[in-house]
Amino acid sequence: MQIPLVDLKAQYAEIKDEIDEAVRGVIESAQFINGPNVKSFEASFAKFCGCKRAVGVSSGSSALVVALKAAGIKEGDEVITTANTFIATAEAISQMSAKPVFVDVERETYNMDIEKLRKAITPKTKAIVPVHLYGYPTDMKPLMEIAEKKNLAVIEDCAQAHGTEYKGRRVPVSGIGCFSFFPAKILGCYGDGGGIICNDEEFADRAAALKDHGRMPGEKYIHSLIGYGERLDEIQAAILNAKLKHLDKWIEKRREIAHFYTKSLNGAGVPKEAEKNKHTYYMYVVRHEKRDLLQASLKKEGISTGVHYPVPLHLQPAYSYMRLGEGAFPEAENAAKEILSLPLYPELEREQQEYVIEKVNGFVK
Ligand SMILES: Cc1ncc(COP(=O)(O)O)c(C=O)c1O
Repeated sequence: MQIPLVDLKAQYAEIKDEIDEAVRGVIESAQFINGPNVKSFEASFAKFCGCKRAVGVSSGSSALVVALKAAGIKEGDEVITTANTFIATAEAISQMSAKPVFVDVERETYNMDIEKLRKAITPKTKAIVPVHLYGYPTDMKPLMEIAEKKNLAVIEDCAQAHGTEYKGRRVPVSGIGCFSFFPAKILGCYGDGGGIICNDEEFADRAAALKDHGRMPGEKYIHSLIGYGERLDEIQAAILNAKLKHLDKWIEKRREIAHFYTKSLNGAGVPKEAEKNKHTYYMYVVRHEKRDLLQASLKKEGISTGVHYPVPLHLQPAYSYMRLGEGAFPEAENAAKEILSLPLYPELEREQQEYVIEKVNGFVK
């Protein structure tokens, strides 16, 4: 049996007619930029998140850049995030000429350790960017208390957390969240795409202007701000509109498979959901001391797996100038050596799930 980590072809087969019609509609209308599909997707996705506004952008990375810019982050500011995330989170901070300040993660959830966050705050700290990694929420209540007390902006990296819930409420909890619609994400388009979700109308208008060359609502050849060319396009928005209708069902399917894995695999490495939190299992991550051997043995059996991520950000060549080195963030470093993402997607058949379980349990025994 051959099992990929993600199977986008299986998903397309299920919704082919809807996708083909959506794409054809855009091509026939010949309205590719700033059209009705982006508008309707923004309205529907904001509603899905339980927030007032959504601003479509060209990727999750640009969502972070535009949101940080809209929040006024600038040279010399410090912005706190975690060491165990995709580099785009820190890159966006660096692109503001601000300083990313990494903190370690909790062993169980892989998310920001709030006690360590407390210690990382300095007079230069301007914002916190928590990442809801793998679809499990960061502990936002104490984080928000700290942010309010210290008057810090909070911009949630929700790239992996479509539909994730914290204490019964969908992320973003703080009121500003950045999503990625990269094809393999829980909600993905057929290219690059992203969105900024927020409750503040003024912030949304600023973000919408920044992603479209600084044009404020109603402006065409007037550019009030120095912005970017980072729009979501109509074809991607039409695909997202078609896929959004299936999202709740797909999330429930992910959870069903994850719960079956956890029951059958003893669940080592997967956080237990705190009361009223909802994990959406963008990644189903197990932990093993001999991770590389486990990964190689699964590969031999036809099972593709992934490591998200093998190198924490402070050990990346791009951030070597910080001279943080090995030992700076032990939990992130240990996780990087032991974590393994197993195949999990809504179309994964029961027979395939059982095959993965059999092979993982066979190795662990
Ligand atoms: C945590 C996190 N942040 C940001 C991004 C960037 O999103 P994109 O690939 O859409 O630019 C990703 C995507 O992989 C991500 O996983």
